[in-house]
Amino acid sequence: MTMITEADREWVMAEITKINQKMEWVREKSKDKIPYTTMGQGEHDDFRSSDRDMRMNEGINWWTNGFWGGMLWLLYHETKDERYAKIAEKSEIMLDQCFVDYYGLHHDVGFMWLPTAVADYRLTGSQDARRRGLHAASMLAGRFNPAGRFIRAWNSYGQNDNTGWAIIDCMMNLPLLYWASEETKDPRFRHIARMHANTVIENFVREDGSCEHIVEFDPENGGKVNTYGGQGYEKGSSWTRGQAWGLYGFTLSYIHTKEDAYLDTAKKIARYFILNIPDSGHIPIDFKQPAADDFEDSTAAAIAACGLIELARCTEKEEREFFLQAAVKMLKALSERRCNWSSDCDCILEKCSEAYHSRKHLHIIYGDYYYIEAMFKLADQDVFLW
Ligand code: GLY
Repeated sequence: MTMITEADREWVMAEITKINQKMEWVREKSKDKIPYTTMGQGEHDDFRSSDRDMRMNEGINWWTNGFWGGMLWLLYHETKDERYAKIAEKSEIMLDQCFVDYYGLHHDVGFMWLPTAVADYRLTGSQDARRRGLHAASMLAGRFNPAGRFIRAWNSYGQNDNTGWAIIDCMMNLPLLYWASEETKDPRFRHIARMHANTVIENFVREDGSCEHIVEFDPENGGKVNTYGGQGYEKGSSWTRGQAWGLYGFTLSYIHTKEDAYLDTAKKIARYFILNIPDSGHIPIDFKQPAADDFEDSTAAAIAACGLIELARCTEKEEREFFLQAAVKMLKALSERRCNWSSDCDCILEKCSEAYHSRKHLHIIYGDYYYIEAMFKLADQDVFLW
């Protein structure tokens, strides 16, 4: 049980009513799409189409293409309305094209197939969905570099050699490997996930609990070559969504393995994150961005909140309260000032950001996904999809 106050429970239930009301019409309006963001008039765009640049992993291979299905499965679990399941299954089948394309795929197969195929399997027992999940897990395992004990993030394009690159985001892909081992009773997948997580502890997590976004290793001997600021402000800075991926990702590694080092690391990242939450509760794109910047990332807030709620469930007493209260603070800030419940917009969360240097706010599908996941978690009505 998550244990929130009665007043907070009332607020959460009111948010869930709004989520249900909005998703009823968004579901029908976007049923043939796989949305990422919104276009000019607040309408969902569509990332199924191949008129995007496939070499940049766009189109059907885009890393966020599992979140629409994930939202639908969360709502299916909540409402038992088969219409959610039907549309989610359709988007899962669309993703089969990625397996055929092969070249467009990357390490984010966890983000793509955990909230779609694996969710479907967990909720319906579909054997086709199980096969898709295991196929994706095998592709992720295939990206492991034994010399550096890391999972390679992206493919190389043109002059850009990413052979030795690993990124903090991958902590959220590891649960696909844990699931595959749990499902097949074959420990190979779990061994790879743990080796990668251990490499992240050694090379990404700094003394103060902040995390690197990108670390480059020598792909031949595994030595650490460089670090990059990536989607954050600059080298050595603290991209907030990256901190959130680390926080939630290590919590999930602990849930799957019961390894204390992962729980300790999750707590370390969480404390750093919480110490840096501004009074407003709105999260900047980077905790080290210039003070004059007003760029925010609501996705970082929603993801970190999900991680903190799960972390609270793994801890006790004051610590549990500390993590839970921080999650509630961020979610209330989103609820009061960053949620759009109107019919003018297909998305919910405002002021999401792709990267610091994009210097713009937009709607992003996984912001909505994690906001919904967080609300169901607070209500103790969630289904575990990671
Ligand atoms: N995984 C990429 C991102 O968080 O933008």
